[in-house]
Amino acid sequence: MNNNLINQQITIQNTRADIIGELEAIIQYENHLDVTENPQAKQIIRHIVAEEKMHVGELFGLLFHLDPESKKQFELGYQEFVEGRK
Ligand SMILES: [Fe+2]
Repeated sequence: MNNNLINQQITIQNTRADIIGELEAIIQYENHLDVTENPQAKQIIRHIVAEEKMHVGELFGLLFHLDPESKKQFELGYQEFVEGRK
């Protein structure tokens, strides 16, 4: 594998790891949201959770750009979910 392909593969794997990081952040923030009774903290954390969810979308966009096979399989999986609900 040449250096460009190696770097591309590292970037793809790092993007997947970054998606995991964003999802873990959402879980942590929502757990904190559940336990705090401070209205100001709730407001700020809700805003941050929304941003983290957007980051997930941005990173999936990057992953799908870098690895079209991931996009194809994601869409097939999503389609199976949608058809399973009919
Ligand atoms: Fe984030």
